[in-house]
Amino acid sequence: MPFWSGETYRAIARCLASGQMIRGVDVEGLRSALIEHFGVEDILLCGSASLALELALRTCHLQTGDEVIVPSFCCSAIVAPILAVGATPVLADVSTELNLTVETVDAACTSHTRAIIVPHLFGNPADIDAIAELGNAKNIVVIDDAAQALGATTADGQSLGTSGDMGVVSFGAEKVCFGLGGGALISHSRGVLDGARETALGYPSIIHALRQLTAMFAYRRWRRWTLPVQRLIARGPEKNPHAPPQPYRQDNLTNVQAAVARTLMDSLPENLQARRARVQAYGQLLGDQAGLELIPHRPSSACLTQVVRVLSKRRSEDGAARVIQALGAAGCEVQGSYMPIHLLGSFSACVWDRLPYTERVWADLVEVPCEPTVSLADVERIASIVRSCAGN
Ligand SMILES: Cc1ncc(COP(=O)(O)O)c(C=O)c1O
Repeated sequence: MPFWSGETYRAIARCLASGQMIRGVDVEGLRSALIEHFGVEDILLCGSASLALELALRTCHLQTGDEVIVPSFCCSAIVAPILAVGATPVLADVSTELNLTVETVDAACTSHTRAIIVPHLFGNPADIDAIAELGNAKNIVVIDDAAQALGATTADGQSLGTSGDMGVVSFGAEKVCFGLGGGALISHSRGVLDGARETALGYPSIIHALRQLTAMFAYRRWRRWTLPVQRLIARGPEKNPHAPPQPYRQDNLTNVQAAVARTLMDSLPENLQARRARVQAYGQLLGDQAGLELIPHRPSSACLTQVVRVLSKRRSEDGAARVIQALGAAGCEVQGSYMPIHLLGSFSACVWDRLPYTERVWADLVEVPCEPTVSLADVERIASIVRSCAGN
């Protein structure tokens, strides 16, 4: 669930009352706040981080046959921007922290590799500096994808999103700063994003903005009340993971999205502190439980979620599904982690070679929540259900 304060609701009310839902002063205000937060020269705001990735790739002038490396274990949203610019997504393996490493990236590099997109999954920093060095040595563009890791830093304190040649962050659903959507493309130097600015973006209609706002309240902000109702109404089949992904927003960022995102930047320190406390609590409650492995977060992680690996005793067992079912029965909406992109039916345009670690672990993973709206008492309740399933 999103972590919104009174300021967030006041910002929405102000946009509605002033008629500045689509265009207004908050867009420039957010841009200045982000430039200050990241300590960079230039930022381009747009309707989603997927679009920001597409714009980043457009600055590379890719041609058919050029390759862009991404992890197979990732949100599949990362593939569409690569296809949109006519390049080929090449899927690389991840290692024990579920992120790309220099070794897995190097193994996927060919003479056609032109760019590498490095996500920091679940808010946890990947070895971005080492991968940026590799990219530099091989003349490959590195995009620091901090969509899931706003507020996290490298070990020496550099904000994620500012390493490599360009970076992106997201204010989309289920991110650290879960707002009304939106993304930012980040660059250290002026001029780099000029090519991206040449792509003309439109504005969504006021009807779309109002619909988005209503859907946010109905399905997300008041999830505690709408989830049981939704479960009663929709008893049909689960969402099909092989279905093609929803197309991403191709518009400019609206003023109301920017106004919400500004308030989320203001509450970011409190947000991160709460998330880190929840990760620590899961560590204390589940860290020594036989049959479970917690995927570690580095100290500077944004702690988006805690991933738990459920080790089944027998091959035929699906321990992760058992945990998800038990949590669901107790009213906790949790999900298994990503199905790797190379196993999804809609991504036949991707290429890959061997992905041994991804294939070994993905089916065992469950994500438990760390957002501040989940109380420490909820964390204890979730941990005790997970523990009882693992003990069986
Ligand atoms: C690693 C990563 N990059 C990019 C995106 C795209 O973000 P957005 O939803 O703002 O388009 C996502 C979305 O989940 C993501 O997880």
